[in-house]
Amino acid sequence: MTRLRTVRGTLLCPSRERGRFELIRDGVLELDAAGTIRSIGSAPTGCTVATTRPGCVWLPGFVDTHVHFPQTRAIGRSSGALLDWLQQTIFAEEAKFADPHYAAIVAREFCQAMIDQGTTCASIYGSSHHAATEVLFRELDRSGLRAQAGTTLMDRGAPAELCVAASDALPACDELAARWDGHDGGRLRYCVTPRFALSCSAELMNGAAELAQRRGLPIQTHLAEHPDEVAAVARAFPESATYLETYAAHGLCTERTLFGHALWLAPEEWRLLAEQNAAISHCPDSNFFLGSGVFRLREATERRIRVGLGSDVGAGRTFSMRRVASAAYDASLLNGVKVSSAELLWLATTGGAEALGLTARVGRLESGFDADLVAIECGVADRASSTLDELLDALVFCAEGNPVRGTYVRGRQLARTEAVSP
Ligand code: GUN
Ligand code: ZN
Repeated sequence: MTRLRTVRGTLLCPSRERGRFELIRDGVLELDAAGTIRSIGSAPTGCTVATTRPGCVWLPGFVDTHVHFPQTRAIGRSSGALLDWLQQTIFAEEAKFADPHYAAIVAREFCQAMIDQGTTCASIYGSSHHAATEVLFRELDRSGLRAQAGTTLMDRGAPAELCVAASDALPACDELAARWDGHDGGRLRYCVTPRFALSCSAELMNGAAELAQRRGLPIQTHLAEHPDEVAAVARAFPESATYLETYAAHGLCTERTLFGHALWLAPEEWRLLAEQNAAISHCPDSNFFLGSGVFRLREATERRIRVGLGSDVGAGRTFSMRRVASAAYDASLLNGVKVSSAELLWLATTGGAEALGLTARVGRLESGFDADLVAIECGVADRASSTLDELLDALVFCAEGNPVRGTYVRGRQLARTEAVSP
């Protein structure tokens, strides 16, 4: 396997502080043999290293904090709001993953779609079928992507072929976690994934929390995405004062939990999220497609709640985290807030790494970090007179005109691959 050892070119470096970047117009990034960044700085005078991918800007790879593997082929299937869309379109597609051969074909498409868009790391809802989730892990391993993923847990509220009782599902998750969590130096992690409160019994949620606690695993689920869902959760769990309280009561609101959406929260839910140091995946393109509502980014950032961006494919219509960032701009405008392209790009990279608890090694171009990189062709960067803001605007808002040319994890280029024959 060949890895980059030196990159010379335009380097866009996010800082630890939200929404800030440093631009190094002629920089050099040095990697060690394992793909860790050893040094970064301006090219010295008389530097003889050739420019790597001329015309490209280098930045940390994108982090997709919420994406559904078994919805890869259901993108753009409009069938109403969340609960109708699940029942009418999504559950039928997800049932196909009972066949591991189908899962293997789609797993290739799924990983390739992320690589094509410069995504280097993702938090993935797997199939509710364990064999298909195992297939997903194998493909993630082969592709070189960084990810956390888990079986989507459901024991009610869906067709019987998607529901697995807690007594079967949890030992199977334990087995997958034993095999994959921490694989390849932590590149792959197992993520405990109860789908949402409406598809989980109290027993399943308690067992999921116990598994996550025992193994120190991350957790992901959906929270307060649509008003009809919030009302249904209130009916199903009358003993809980709020939606978030249903998760908290079953041990699922922790600092390792990543909640998708969080659109319809009461003040006490915002307070609890902050208190527990839980993270949020903001999925604006999905929210527009399903007509779910508008996320209030400043409610989160003012409380210092960690936020990343999620494609939420297949409710989201794109694997491009730049398109998602652009949708986040539109969503914020609806709240009367203009978010800068710097903050949007930061959320799609460093913010995502923070939300996944990966800040020690991922999401920045700094010595000691893994060289998870994307090279994006960008004409604006070549103009000596262009400003940092112009460059950031072009990257976020003009994704089509500024294509991804290379996606790298630990310095290794993730290659385009042949599709397996159907
Ligand atoms: N809530 C429960 N399941 C899902 C899903 O698959 N997609 C979205 N967007 N929301 C959900
Ligand atoms: Zn989702």
